Amino acid sequence: MSELGRLTDSHGRNIRDLRISITDRCNFRCLYCLPETEEAADFYRREGRGDPKPIQHAWKPRTHFLNYEEIERIASVAVGQGVTKLRLTGGEPLLRRDVPVLVSKLSALPVEDLALTTNGFQFGRHAESLRDAGLRRVSFSLDSLDGENFKKLTGRDGLEEVLAAIRQARELGFNPVKVNAVIIRHLNDHEIEALAEFARAEEISFRFIEFMPLDSGRAWQKDHVVTGREILERLQARFDLQPVDREHPSATAKRWRFADSPAEIGLITPVSEPFCGQCNRLRLTADGKIRTCLFSLHEHDLKPLLRGGATDADLAEWLAGVVLKKEARHHIGETEFEQPDRTMSAIGG
Ligand code: GTP
Ligand code: 5AD
Ligand code: SF4
Repeated sequence: MSELGRLTDSHGRNIRDLRISITDRCNFRCLYCLPETEEAADFYRREGRGDPKPIQHAWKPRTHFLNYEEIERIASVAVGQGVTKLRLTGGEPLLRRDVPVLVSKLSALPVEDLALTTNGFQFGRHAESLRDAGLRRVSFSLDSLDGENFKKLTGRDGLEEVLAAIRQARELGFNPVKVNAVIIRHLNDHEIEALAEFARAEEISFRFIEFMPLDSGRAWQKDHVVTGREILERLQARFDLQPVDREHPSATAKRWRFADSPAEIGLITPVSEPFCGQCNRLRLTADGKIRTCLFSLHEHDLKPLLRGGATDADLAEWLAGVVLKKEARHHIGETEFEQPDRTMSAIGG
């Protein structure tokens, strides 16, 4: 591949990580993502933001979404241009049919890393076929260890299923198994220590994420954010934690290791300490749009090219042009900040 084909943006950042959302549907209603439950409305009302805005779930024909051949083709072109990490996300990716079929196509590409982000609720029934198809690692979301609070946060009575899924992933040899929690003040911040204790006991990599304004209800407020610094101070008061280098310079998480366990704590601090300067990520939505940033206000539609006879070289050239428009950073907390129309459930984390 010539240097011309590489995906380098106008700020000198090389794109290495393509995150592919394969569906915008979800079987959970997380309060920080799709706050459509009574509990979510109650919480935001109490916090003085009024009712969250309802989301429009318009039915779309199947052709609105990329099929697996189209996804594979884009991934393959991007890999030819220097992408080394692929991640499947949603909504909840396991709601789409035959995900192992896509995994086996993608795992045949020369990538260093192929991962899946899931809420875990239906992981159990797909776990073995995903592993057999070549998936090596999984990231779960787990925001609470209390059944009631879990339900309040996710809209689903699913704590036991998710805990079983995490256990099963470890037993099947997925490695590393990462677990993410979005921490929201007055909702699950009282569980920070318990979540870390869970990580220590289960010997997993547990990451705490700052709440970002990507909720469909547009009810995010700065006061809801529990900063990484606050989380770290609380954890250091309770555990003996030793700092570890980031996995790589563009990794989202700052890491710590427990002195008495191989478990790891990660802090993902997009709000209080943004990591945009090192961002190497590009996103593909289920309906074939490239997003150059989680907070992009513009998307770039691949479908007309894909379905209009473009060659791989045309796609590569187009992608390289799109990447040049990648935003320098997000503007959370600044007056000019504008929340994108698409919410996390349709972008994938
Ligand atoms: P690995 O560590 O390789 O598993 O990748 P990762 O750190 O990107 O992990 P994961 O996909 O689990 O992402 C964790 C969370 O980090 C996401 O759910 C988002 O909340 C946040 N995140 C990931 N990428 C970005 C990004 O580009 N910008 C911002 N602001 N947040 C991000
Ligand atoms: N802020 C931060 N992280 C979020 N996620 C979803 N919505 C938000 C938000 N508003 C994360 C979840 C999950 C991943 C898919 O995206 O933690 O791990
Ligand atoms: Fe929750 Fe993920 Fe579904 Fe959003 S897409 S509601 S974060 S499980």
